[in-house]
Amino acid sequence: MNLIVAVDENWAIGRGGDQLVYISADLKRFRTLTTGHPVILGRKTLATFPGGRPLKNRRNLILSATPGYAVEGAEVYADVGSLMEHAPEDAFVIGGESVYRALLDRCDTAYVTKILASYPADRYFPDLDKLPDWQVAEEGDVLEEDGVKFRYVTYKKK
Ligand SMILES: NC(=O)c1ccc[n+]([C@@H]2O[C@H](COP(=O)([O-])OP(=O)(O)OC[C@H]3O[C@@H](n4cnc5c(N)ncnc54)[C@H](OP(=O)(O)O)[C@@H]3O)[C@@H](O)[C@H]2O)c1
Repeated sequence: MNLIVAVDENWAIGRGGDQLVYISADLKRFRTLTTGHPVILGRKTLATFPGGRPLKNRRNLILSATPGYAVEGAEVYADVGSLMEHAPEDAFVIGGESVYRALLDRCDTAYVTKILASYPADRYFPDLDKLPDWQVAEEGDVLEEDGVKFRYVTYKKK
């Protein structure tokens, strides 16, 4: 499976239940890469979407162990085992922290947007540069939007 994430210089990904910063070019790239593929996300990340609604044009597979929790237009799985029975190989894991950590070992490609700044944060992604089984496959040029510098880096599992 694939994963897609935006991290700052400390591999931080969120604060107070929200993203650290919104970069419209990055959101567009997220849409391009994930449209037509199933997305896998946690209950709390779903809550950050407009109206708490699933993403359009994609199968939304939500992880939540909350009894009775259901979402119109999405599938809810109570544990990784039952999720994996229904998650195709072309799925994208889209967060948040707990879901990335639960599924990192099942992914072989990571589309990382590296934001060249650091922010106060309370959610983090594992530092792939320190994990021996991951390596950089492709590194894009530094881009800039509204004064925020970032680059797209693709990691592959060795
Ligand atoms: N920068 C990025 O690219 C990016 C992407 C996505 C999210 N984020 C940020 O990440 C933060 C949210 O991350 P988070 O870790 O707090 O929340 P999360 O991973 O989005 O959702 C956590 C919830 O998912 C369910 N869950 C997770 N693992 C599970 C498992 N193994 N089995 C069953 N249910 C499971 C649980 O729901 P129940 O409590 O219902 O059991 C858990 O409370 C936000 O700040 C968000 O903005 C950043």
